[in-house]
Amino acid sequence: MSLIAVPLLLLPQNFSAYADVCIIGDVNEDKVLSISDVLMIKNFASGQQKPTVRQSSLADVNGDGRVNENDVSALERQLKHFSDSVPKGCYISCGDSETRYFWFDENHGNFIIKDTGFGLNFNFSCSCGEITFNTGSARNVEKAYISWSDDRHFVLKWKSGKAECFRYFGENQPDYGQLITGHWRAESDSGTRHFSINGLSGFFSDMNGGKSVNFDYKTDGNIITFNMDGEKYPLSAVVTRDDDKHFTLEWSDGTVEKFSPDNDFRIIDGVTYINGILIANKTYALPPDYDPGGLLPEVQKDLDKMFEDAEKEGISLWEFSGYRNYQDQKEIYENYKAMYGQEKADTFSSRPGYSEHQTGMTLDVNCADDSFDGTPEAIWLAENCYKYGFIIRYPKGKQYITGYKYEPWHIRWIGRENAEKVYKSGLCLEEYLEIDSVYPEE
Ligand code: DAL
Ligand code: ZN
Repeated sequence: MSLIAVPLLLLPQNFSAYADVCIIGDVNEDKVLSISDVLMIKNFASGQQKPTVRQSSLADVNGDGRVNENDVSALERQLKHFSDSVPKGCYISCGDSETRYFWFDENHGNFIIKDTGFGLNFNFSCSCGEITFNTGSARNVEKAYISWSDDRHFVLKWKSGKAECFRYFGENQPDYGQLITGHWRAESDSGTRHFSINGLSGFFSDMNGGKSVNFDYKTDGNIITFNMDGEKYPLSAVVTRDDDKHFTLEWSDGTVEKFSPDNDFRIIDGVTYINGILIANKTYALPPDYDPGGLLPEVQKDLDKMFEDAEKEGISLWEFSGYRNYQDQKEIYENYKAMYGQEKADTFSSRPGYSEHQTGMTLDVNCADDSFDGTPEAIWLAENCYKYGFIIRYPKGKQYITGYKYEPWHIRWIGRENAEKVYKSGLCLEEYLEIDSVYPEE
């Protein structure tokens, strides 16, 4: 039996090119098993058409060394049996330069390139032997015809004309690396950027609340090509996966950026959100015109409930200083600065634009001086405020991280779920989110 007639089942795993794929039964060699092949084999069997040696090998569907009506029936049965078959589970393909795993579930899946661990999620549908893959938006649709050679092997013929052989690999998704989708911290000699990537698009922004840049990208083996908004030409980088949580990009200008998992970091209208939590500290400023106009309704609601419950326990709490706009904070800060000098003022009063009081999610309870510390009210607040979505924002002993001395009266609302996690972690918000609180150099 010549190589050409080897059933797919026996093809070596590392066949060198998609174009070399041969499918037993595919006598017209269009990389798809179809009724045209059945008709051709019928002609060979009846003597109406004389097959070449290669065609004879391909037409011998049942592998008995002859081409006759039995091969016609075998191919017909095969077509009928598999016409509605949709792949399920994990399949492996080995092409020109890469080994790809495709994992199919009901109507979605992903593929991963073995060497890099990179890949894409997709949705798919199958109709009349044609599979439509969608990897994100309408722009990202790929189609392929599927030809099964048995219930564990199929060939996809892509619209480009390339054919890719697949063999069954197992029931589960390959546990190999992870997709590029996610939130990444990218470090290079020139600083740190944050990448948020979902499917085939994403954005990056720099550490200090710099402008976000949107992009989309394509992968081809270990090359990622980015189309960045505002850049005329695509930018390419070679990717190396260091382990399943870290990878490195080497850009064409020689810059090397190391990626590690990061929080979900977003800048929306100049306001920074990390894992959905709005951040205002010495590193992350608010725009001067950010003005919710008062405590946010959800914050007020939780606050009222907290004050009510405290009262029931004989603890009297009230709002001493709540919302302050940019201008209010400017006046307060300038006053302290004039009285104590900038260095000291910076330990207890925020510069305008950097105060949490501008968020509408913060207030000082009862008073704002050290006499509050150790009172039954302060103790109750520290032990219970997380149940209402608040945290003591500048805890004792954390000044070197928060940038502010201990303020037992200053509470910040981050929602009940987050507040409970922060409270139980024993960390301050900066530690919990792994961020800094340092003013930019003037
Ligand atoms: N006292 C806090 C730090 C503020 O001024 O916002
Ligand atoms: Zn305060």
